[in-house]
Amino acid sequence: GGAEHPRDYSFSFEGPFGTFDRNQLQRGYRVYKEVCAACHGMNLLSFRNLGQPGGPFWDERWPNPNDNLYVKAIAAEFEIADIDSETGEAITRPGTPADRFPEPYPNATAAAAANGGAAPPDLSVMAKARHDGADYIASLLTGYRQAPAGLRMAPGQNYNIYMTGDMSPFWEGDPDHVPPGGFIAMPNPLQNGQVTYDDGTEATVDQMAQDVAAFIAWASDPRATSRKQTGLAVLIYLLGFTVLTWFSYKRIWRGVA
Ligand code: HEM
Repeated sequence: GGAEHPRDYSFSFEGPFGTFDRNQLQRGYRVYKEVCAACHGMNLLSFRNLGQPGGPFWDERWPNPNDNLYVKAIAAEFEIADIDSETGEAITRPGTPADRFPEPYPNATAAAAANGGAAPPDLSVMAKARHDGADYIASLLTGYRQAPAGLRMAPGQNYNIYMTGDMSPFWEGDPDHVPPGGFIAMPNPLQNGQVTYDDGTEATVDQMAQDVAAFIAWASDPRATSRKQTGLAVLIYLLGFTVLTWFSYKRIWRGVA
């Protein structure tokens, strides 16, 4: 029993000096928008965040992300529920950079009802909410398998080797060889070639899984890159200060027995 340990991808943003790869974040955004957003919200993310320094659509031409033309165009692709300020009527309008990503379902009950009883969780901080963050997300998206013979599938469930669970109650085979993983209500969302990338990258399942995992990792911690850069600058400064201190020490104590 137990889930397979997630695969160990080598994401660009790992390690003390790792940074997000803007092209990868753009590809990941595309996967989120075209595939995941049908079921999953990212309600902590505003469109303007996409154009902030380090974000997928950051561009030095628009230091203020509210002016970023990509961000404006992206926001306008979404319908936002609002109230007409004149008539007080419920309306929908195109999004603006200040809006948050809209929820795919009107409420949690509707979300669960549309997905066999399991509401798709919000993905805003999913890379922090699960162990192994991006590695787990990318693994999960590539972890769907044909259920082995002898595994009784519950209706509306899918078998995934990286999902947490205990398959022993559903397993009719050798009790010493219970299959790994668990059942998940999310159907396998990715098929080869499902999206078309602007940068010409081939949209294999593996590629899309890593790209969207990177995008979610960025959304979960958008300041990771600037924090690491600050950390590096602090280390360099302290190193310089150490050298300076050493030489002044030598100078002050020169000739003292
Ligand atoms: C669960 C990611 C597309 C429906 C999840 C989880 C993640 C995730 C990380 C949490 C799994 C866990 O509990 O550890 C994604 C990504 C998608 C995507 C990155 C796009 C590539 C979709 C789509 C649907 C969907 C298109 C609906 C057709 C669900 C549901 C759950 C879920 C219902 C809850 C599963 C359960 O608890 O059994 N998804 N998802 N997802 N997702 Fe998705």
